[in-house]
This record gives sequence, structure tokens and C-alpha cells, in this order.
Amino acid sequence: MDVGSNKTVCLIGREEPGLGVRLVGSGFGVSAGLKGGAVIDLEAAETGIRTAVEKAEKAAGVTVQDVCVNVALRSLRSQHMTVQTEFASGAVADRDLKRVLNSSLSEQAQPDHAIIHAIPMTWQVDDEDGIKDPRGMYGQKLGVQMHFVLGGIGPLRNLAHCIERCHLNIRSVTASPYASALAVLTEDERDLGVTLIDLGAGITSAAIFRDNTLVHVDALGVGGRNVTTDLARGLTTPFEAAERIKTIYGSCLHGADDDFISVPCPPIAAQDELHHHPRSRVTAIIRARMEETFELLRDRIHAAGLENYSGRQIVLTGGGARLNGVRELAEFVMSKRVRIGQPHGVFGLSDVLGQPDFAVATGLLKQAFETLPEAVNGPPDLSGRAYRQQRYSGNAIGRSMQWLRENF
Ligand SMILES: Nc1ncnc2c1ncn2[C@@H]1O[C@H](COP(=O)(O)OP(=O)(O)OP(=O)(O)O)[C@@H](O)[C@H]1O
Ligand SMILES: [Mg+2]
Repeated sequence: MDVGSNKTVCLIGREEPGLGVRLVGSGFGVSAGLKGGAVIDLEAAETGIRTAVEKAEKAAGVTVQDVCVNVALRSLRSQHMTVQTEFASGAVADRDLKRVLNSSLSEQAQPDHAIIHAIPMTWQVDDEDGIKDPRGMYGQKLGVQMHFVLGGIGPLRNLAHCIERCHLNIRSVTASPYASALAVLTEDERDLGVTLIDLGAGITSAAIFRDNTLVHVDALGVGGRNVTTDLARGLTTPFEAAERIKTIYGSCLHGADDDFISVPCPPIAAQDELHHHPRSRVTAIIRARMEETFELLRDRIHAAGLENYSGRQIVLTGGGARLNGVRELAEFVMSKRVRIGQPHGVFGLSDVLGQPDFAVATGLLKQAFETLPEAVNGPPDLSGRAYRQQRYSGNAIGRSMQWLRENF
């Protein structure tokens, strides 16, 4: 289930042996209770979730109990940490990995942020680093470089509360750009280095991959809704009219005859008359906001020291990726190759669901059937207390060890 600022999407899938995941039902609801990815109106958000789930349940003929959900918050951020522990003489064994992972998790504990993802990136044995699988190696010190994706605990609690009020059990929580990446990126892209940017209504978020690992996540509290608000203000027209103008006439690129194309703008007060603006005005407003958004993101990636690490390729998803000229503008601002990401890897996606705004939902559905390479699985601990292994549900560490066994 993708709970967005604009729409909530529920996809129900089934694994078919030898084929993969097949979509068996989908439903949408309008999200009115979210702002910038955070729930601001519990009741309205709940209605959106209920609507989406009920429609999908009806289409699939099943009752939904567990959901894999996304989270897109302004407070999403990455933190890297290297932890080392001494280990008993002899070769590195599973229990040593477990111990160092546990120690990284307890060092990470923060009262105001919850761990959404905890990804072991590389391992070290004594002074040797960059090791993919240290088991069987000899040394005295074992280290791991961890990538934590964190989110503000307050908004996460509200989201969880909202979903639980709909009698749904949260099986996992995934950062939106990570989920989106699972649906649209190729393995080569993830290996060579790629930046996925999800252009949502309230949040613009990014996920950077390198060596097939998620290495960075970032989010800005601006999105398509800000573009529409700018248009509504700049053209003195209601929000709904501005949204329509954006999808019909909107572009990030100036066209040769834009000055001569007249865009009808309904008045804000019903008694006033329809007025007109040249299309060039619409383009200028949209371009200013989109350019600023890409610049902000570019500068933040730069400030995080990831400019060269983030690869030469950018993939855009989210409703904003449908905006005319957005690919060219992103190419211009970020100086990288840009493509629009269409979700794939799930059978039965219709033309509608194959669009970039359904990448997050598709990624979540795919993820429901695979184990992500993480040190903790299951929903994040929202208690705000220091990490204790047993609080993570379903013996998460045990499951991650299984992942270690399967993936090395
Ligand atoms: N054809 C289009 N042209 C321009 N903008 C579009 C188009 N289609 C959708 N959008 C914009 O995309 C945004 C919605 O994107 P999306 O559905 O990805 O948001 P969301 O997932 O609900 O929100 P968020 O991810 O921020 O929580 C809206 O602002 C909408 O105006
Ligand atoms: Mg979204």
C-alpha cells in the first residue's frame, strides 16, 4: 500500500510458481489527510486508506490483513556508521556477524528517530575492508559499515496509528524512493551507480544505489502540489483549475509559440470573468519551481559527498515524472543522463498502473515477496527507547541471518 499525499494505492498480488508475482486486485483512494508525506488529518487519511483497500479487496476477492507500506517524510535521512567488535580467536562465524550487527543497532538508537532500514554495506576483518562475506576469515576484529535510513518518530507513529485504525497489520515499512527503485531500476543501474528521484505531490525523495546497495536516501518537503499552488497564485485561479492547466498546458520547457498560445484561467470568485494568460507564463512558473527543486536536491547530494559516487544516471518516478519536459530539465540541472522509470516485474499491471506514479506501489508489492538485505526486518520500532533485540518482531535478526546465508 502506497500512502501518498495525493493518492493511496493498494495492490494485492499473488506469487505464482515459476512465473513471479501476479497482480490480482488494485484500488485507489484520494489522500486528503497528508501533507508533505505526514498525516495531518487522521480521519481523512483513514478514509483514503479504507477506500483503496476495500476496492482492491473487492477486485481480488480476498480480505487484506497485512500490508507493506511506504513512508515518505521530510525527515527521511541517511546515516553511515562503522562498528567494530573483537571476536573470539578463530574464523568469523555467524554469531560474530550477529554480535556486530546488534552492536551497531544499539549504537544507532535515538529517541526522536526510528530506524526504517539498516543495511550492512561492507565488512572489515582487522585492517582489511570492502569484504562482502567475512565468514571463515581469520582475525581479531570484525567491523561492519552500516547504512541507516531514519525517519522522525512522530510522523511514523501517526501513520502507523492511521493504518492500525483500519484494522490492518503493518508487515514492513519502506522508504518511498527505495520502494520505487525496486520497481523501476535495472540491476546494471544499481550496480554502476544510479539516483532515483520520486517526484510526488508533497515530497520529492531520492535514493542512491551503488554496487547493488542502497547508499543514500534524501527527501525534500516540496512536490507537485507546490507547482500547482504556484500556478494558482501566479494565474489567480482556483487550485483545481491550476491542476488542470498544469496537466494540459504544463511544461518545463519553453516552446517557440508559447507567447501566442492563450491559456484560459477560471476566476477565483465565481462572479468574475474567465481571464487568459500566455502559455509562456505557465511554463515560466512551472520551470522556476522544478528547477529550484532539482537544484536543491543536487546541492544536497553534493553536500553529502556523493556527487561522483551517485553514478551518471538518474531515473524519475512519481506523478511529477509525467510533466512535459521534466526529463530534459533534470538533465540540464543535474548534468546526468535521465530516463523516466516505468514499473515492471509484476504480471498483470495495466496501462494505468504501468505509469511512473505507481512505481512505489509496485515496488512494495514486489518487496512483499522477497527479503531485503537488511539487518532488521519487520516494522520499525517506534517506542523511542534504546534498541533491544527482542523488541523487533518475528526474530528479525534471525531472519537477516537467513538472508546472509542465502545471499552470499
Ligand atoms: N500529467 C501530469 N503532468 C504534470 N503533473 C502531474 C501529471 N500527473 C500527475 N501529476 C502530478 O503528480 C503529483 C502526484 O504524484 P504522485 O501520485 O506520485 O503523488 P503521491 O504519491 O500521492 O504523493 P507523495 O509521494 O508526495 O506523498 C501531483 O502533484 C500531480 O499534479
Ligand atoms: Mg508518492
